[in-house]
Formats: sequence, C-alpha cells, structure tokens
Amino acid sequence: MRRARTKRKSRPRRRTAGARGARAPYSVNANLSKLPPYLFVELDRKKREAIERGVDIINLGIGDPDLPTPALIVDRMAEAIRRPEHHRYPSGKGSGEFRAAVARYMDRKFGVKVDPATEVLALLGSKEGIGHLPLALASPGETVLVPDPGYPPYLSGTVFANAIPRRFVLEERNGFLPDLSELPPRARLLFLNYPNNPTGATATLEFLERAVAWARENGTWLAYDVAYVQAYYDGRRPPSVLQIAGAKDVSIEFHSFSKTYQMTGWRVAWACGNAKAIAALAQVKDNVDSGVFTAIQEAAAWGLDHGDAEEETMRRIQGARRRLFSEGLRSLGWGVFESSATFYLWCRPPKGTPSDVAVARLLEEAGIVATPGHGFGAGGKGYVRFALTQPENRLKEALARMAKVAW
Ligand SMILES: Cc1ncc(COP(=O)(O)O)c(C=O)c1O
Repeated sequence: MRRARTKRKSRPRRRTAGARGARAPYSVNANLSKLPPYLFVELDRKKREAIERGVDIINLGIGDPDLPTPALIVDRMAEAIRRPEHHRYPSGKGSGEFRAAVARYMDRKFGVKVDPATEVLALLGSKEGIGHLPLALASPGETVLVPDPGYPPYLSGTVFANAIPRRFVLEERNGFLPDLSELPPRARLLFLNYPNNPTGATATLEFLERAVAWARENGTWLAYDVAYVQAYYDGRRPPSVLQIAGAKDVSIEFHSFSKTYQMTGWRVAWACGNAKAIAALAQVKDNVDSGVFTAIQEAAAWGLDHGDAEEETMRRIQGARRRLFSEGLRSLGWGVFESSATFYLWCRPPKGTPSDVAVARLLEEAGIVATPGHGFGAGGKGYVRFALTQPENRLKEALARMAKVAW
C-alpha cells in the first residue's frame, strides 16, 4: 500500500516540475528568444547614436530606395483614395482588378500564365507573405530549408510556425547558388531568392529547372522570392521560376512593388503559383489580416499596366550607381562580387579585415552605415553589404571618405 501510494504521488510531481516549472507566469513566446535581433533594428540604433553625436551619416545599410514612387502611381492613388467604395474592408485575396493586372503582367513580362481567380494573392508586402508561408505549408516539427546568407524572414517565419529551419550555405565559388545535391531530402519547404539579397547573385533558367526537378523528387514546396526581379542592369531580365514547365505543381513565387516602383512604404505585393499553396496562405491571412487597402491595389495595378518606362528609369539610375560604386570600391582594395542585379554590392573588405571590424570602422571613421554579412547568417561572415540607396553625389562622397580609412 505504502509503495503504491509513493508511486502515484511521485509521477505527477515530476511531470509538473518539467512542464510548468520552466515557464514563469507572464512569460512571452519562447520562440522569440530563438531569433537573432532583427538586423535593421540593430543597425538603426547604431545609426541613430551616431546622428545624435552629430555625424553626417551616409546610410548604405537598409535596402530602402531613396527614389520616390513614380508620379503615375501616386496620381492614380490620389484619385482612388477619394472613392468611398475603397474605404471599406478590402477583399482578402485582392480585388479582381488587382489580380487580373498581375496575371497580365506575369504573361507580358515572363510569358507565364496564372489564373487570377485561384493562382494570385495580394499581400501586405512580400515580407508578410514570406513570413506567413511556413504557417500555411509546414506543420510543426517539419523541416524548412533556409538559405544562409539570406533574407531574415525565411528563418523567423519558420520558427514562428514551430517548424525546424535547416540552413544551407550559399558559397561564392558556386555563384551563391545552392548545391542541390547537398540539400537534405524530403523537407517540407525550400526558400530560394534570386536575384539574391544580400549577394546580388542571379539564377539561370537552367538552375531553376534543376531546382524544380529537385523539389518534385523530394515532395518539397519551392518558395521563390523575386523581390528584385526588375532590378537588373545587363538588359536580361532574370527568370520567374514559373517559366519552368511543371513548376506550378510545386512552387509559389513572391513578387513585390517595393523595389520595382520604390513603394516600400505602401505595403503591397503578390504571391502567385500553385493554387493549393495560394489557398493555404490565403487561409492563414484571412485569420490575421484584412487585406491591402483597395485604393493602394488600384494604384499598384495601374503601375503594372503602365509603368514600363518608370521601371526602365529605375534601372538606369541604379545601374549607374552600381557601376560607380563597384569601380570605386575595387580601386580601394575591396573585393566586389560580380553581379548585375539588385541594389546591393556584396564585398570583402580590404586586407582580410573581418566584416564586423570593417563595418564598425566605416561608421566610426567615415560616417557610413553598411551591413555586416553575418547579419544574414553565419554564411555571410567575411562580407559586407552595401545598399546603393543614395544618389551618385553621396556615393562619391562615401568613396572619398572611405579612401581616408587606412586598413
Ligand atoms: C529578398 C527580399 N524579399 C522580400 C523583401 C520584402 O519586400 P516587401 O515586403 O517590401 O515587399 C525584401 C526586402 O528587403 C527582400 O530583400
């Protein structure tokens, strides 16, 4: 009797200590502590401290275009905002006009057919869609493959969904493309992003063919992030993954207005591709947000239909900045990864200077904010990313200041 009573008592006590003892009252979601501090929040803090000290900062840290949104989109918005029908809750998956404009654009630019009814979804910026995607596609405990270095929300969205991130390293000797044969098999979801942030690397159709084939063999969803697909400077538009035959069976693609039309503050983007993946993402979103302001959708759709010349202007300006800054950096002994897309230069500091040291010295000695590569994951160690979101005269000034830093 006595022994039996002891057993009954001790078992629940052990369980209680394990489950409840670790969790203090009013604690917050433990997943939050698994995330590194969000990169740009940290950078912003350091920049503000320098500004408070009176430093004239040249911010090449965050990829937020300095150019204004094209007038044709702003003017359309000014009209759209006056229409009372736009003042009500938007349609969660995007207005019919918006989704139809996306379908026309995908066809015109990439020769890709998407059904606006089932294969297009409006997003509050592609960051939002990317961050929610693991919740839509991965069950807790399933593996999500995340590039390293890579855009941070691939990792944080995975952690929030209680899925398991497995990072794979992008190496310069492979042009910052993954070695597909080394990826773990049968993951639930693979994130890829080309043109790539932070490296500027681009992917060929041939690589995308192999990536789709890999995804099909492994039963893995492929999420392809093309936020920078219009930011190319060699006359050759990088491909959409949906150009690959059969890609739509396994892929969802993320497009953004932010970098194509300098609309980072507007929060509008779209996902397109596999109807089942689109429906799952829409279901998550229906439960957490109420869609994109319809006036913004109208102005953005107008941009898709009428903004070709504006896209070209962006490429001309950004391409000239890129040439200017990469030549300047090379002449100062920096190693610059050769690429002709995105707003970023991915560089090795002179004389093997570690990237965190280089970034700290750029801020302290030259008033320049740049991003240390390891902020995008351990695979970025040794690199510095410059975002070319300043006019040419400021880039020249930055180079002149950098010339005075003795490495
Ligand atoms: C690779 C990549 N994807 C997506 C985004 C998100 O863009 P947005 O949420 O403004 O559409 C960014 C923004 O910097 C990015 O670098």
